[in-house]
Amino acid sequence: MSFDWTAIEQEAQKEINQASSGEAIEALRIKYLGRQGLLAEITGSISSLSAQERPEFGKKANYLKNKLTQLLEERVSQLKENESQGLEAFDVTLPGEPIPQAGTLHPITQTIREIAAIFSKLGFVTVEGPEVENEYNNFSGLNIPLDHPSRDAFDTFYIKSPGVHQVTRSPERFLLRSHTSPVQIRVMKEHKPPLAVIVPGKVYRPDAVDASHSFVFHQVEGFLVDQEVSFADLKGTLTAFAQRLFGENIQMRFRPHFFPFTEPSAEVDISCILCSREPRAESREPKRCSVCGGKGWLEILGCGMIHPNVFANVGYPKDKYSGFAFGMGIERIAMLKYGINDIRLFFENDLRFLRQF
Ligand code: PHE
Repeated sequence: MSFDWTAIEQEAQKEINQASSGEAIEALRIKYLGRQGLLAEITGSISSLSAQERPEFGKKANYLKNKLTQLLEERVSQLKENESQGLEAFDVTLPGEPIPQAGTLHPITQTIREIAAIFSKLGFVTVEGPEVENEYNNFSGLNIPLDHPSRDAFDTFYIKSPGVHQVTRSPERFLLRSHTSPVQIRVMKEHKPPLAVIVPGKVYRPDAVDASHSFVFHQVEGFLVDQEVSFADLKGTLTAFAQRLFGENIQMRFRPHFFPFTEPSAEVDISCILCSREPRAESREPKRCSVCGGKGWLEILGCGMIHPNVFANVGYPKDKYSGFAFGMGIERIAMLKYGINDIRLFFENDLRFLRQF
C-alpha cells in the first residue's frame, strides 16, 4: 500500500485555505480527520503492511495528522481575525446578492401619466408651465378681481422681492402659482385655436398640513378652445375621461358652482367608488362608507365654459371662439383610486409606502 503523501498534504492545504466559514472547515475536518475520514482509512490499511514497512508508514501518517490538525486550527483563527476586522472571508464562487428591485414611479407620477394618456387619446397635448408665476397670469388674466379672497397672502405664497414687468417695466409681484390655470393664459397668448391642452404640475397654497391638506400638491388643468364648443362637449369629454379612469360603471353629476374664469361653472362629482365597488350590506348602508361619508358622491374637479373676459385678456377676437376648462387635484384622485387615507404619505417618501406601487 503506498500513498502520495505530498499530494494529499497539498490538496488538503488548498481546500483548507479556500474554506471561508466555520461549516466549511468542519466539513474538511470530517473529510480528513473524522472517524471515516481519509486518515482513518490510511491508518486502517497499516495491517496489510510488513513489519519493516510499518514504522516508516506510521511516522508519515502521524505527521500528516498533526499537519492537517494544525492547518485547520490556523484557518479557524485566521477567519476569526478577519471577522473581527470586519473583513468577511470572501468566496468569489458564491452567487451574488440579489439586486433590490429597481425604483418605481411615484404614485402621483403614475396617476398623472394615466390621466395624460387618457386625454392624449382624446386629442389633448400636454404642456407645462412655471411654478413661480406672475400675479397677472395667476389672477388678473383669469378674471379674478383684485379683492378676491384667493389673492390674500393667507391663500397665496408671494415671492418677497418684486420683479419687473417685461413690457411696462413697472414693478410686478411674483408668487408660487396657486393653481394650474395660469398656463391657460400662457398657452392662449402664444397660440390660436383650435387648442386642446392638459397641464399637469405642482401648485402651492399656505394651508396647514393635515391628513387631507398639504401646502404643495398637484393639479391637472385641461382646456379646449375652438369655434362652437358647447357645455355638452365638456360633459362628454369629462364623462369619457372618468369612465376610463374609474371604470365604465361610474356615475357623474355636474353641480352648479362659481369660478371667475368660467361661466357657467360646475363642480363634478363621481359616484362613490367604495360604496359601488363593494356591494356588501354594511357598506351600502349610507352612513358607514368611510370614503364618501354616506353621501354617495365624491367631488373630483371644477370646470366650466371659459369666460369671455379671459378670451379678451389673451387677445382673442370677441365672440369668435368658445371653449371649456377644468382642473382637478391629483392627490385626491390618487387617494380615491388606491384607497389612501392620508395625503402626507405622498410627500414623506417612506419606502414601505412607495414600494407598494
Ligand atoms: N383652478 C380651479 C381651482 O384650482 C379649478 C378650475 C380649473 C375650475 C378650470 C374651472 C376651470 O380650484
